[in-house]
Amino acid sequence: MHRKMATLLAGALLATGATAHAAGDEEEKAVEYRESVFHVMGHNFKPMGAMMKGEIDFDAEEFATRAERVSQLAHMPMEGFMEGTADVADSEAKPGIWENWEDFQGKMEDLQETSAELAEVAQGGDKGAIAPKFKAVGESCKACHDDYKED
Ligand code: HEC
Repeated sequence: MHRKMATLLAGALLATGATAHAAGDEEEKAVEYRESVFHVMGHNFKPMGAMMKGEIDFDAEEFATRAERVSQLAHMPMEGFMEGTADVADSEAKPGIWENWEDFQGKMEDLQETSAELAEVAQGGDKGAIAPKFKAVGESCKACHDDYKED
């Protein structure tokens, strides 16, 4: 952790108590924004997983629509990760994001690539061809969550 951030965090904790935070309106809105984007992403991704696992019927058209949405959404969360949002109380984002910014950014770019490939192959509606691309997207989500999202 950067000393400046540690000092800021320590100051925030001292000033407001451990559960509160010192973030302003703008920071809270940024967190709400990125959580909303991820929420919509998850909402679309989940039924795709259920289709791949055979828990629900595979609907090629619905799958392709959802894959397209995830691919579009992958370009949206970054603007919500502005400086100063590390200490917003109800965020699950780890402070490590801002210490390893390039790595974090790279992981979002991975998702943009894997989800674009999935959206493209999904147009063909071939479940067998879709499977490895779907797996790659799931791995992109997990790689970032493992390092940068609290459980
Ligand atoms: C580059 C990093 C990164 C990638 C890639 C990523 N996430 Fe996340 N995700 C996060 C972070 C960080 C949070 C916590 C945001 C917060 O609470 O401020 C999060 C939060 C979430 C949430 C909780 C949202 C809420 O309601 O608060 C869901 C659901 C989610 N991600 C789904 C996904 C899915 C599905 C994928 C892949 C298709 C994905 N994420 C890819 C970093 C990532």
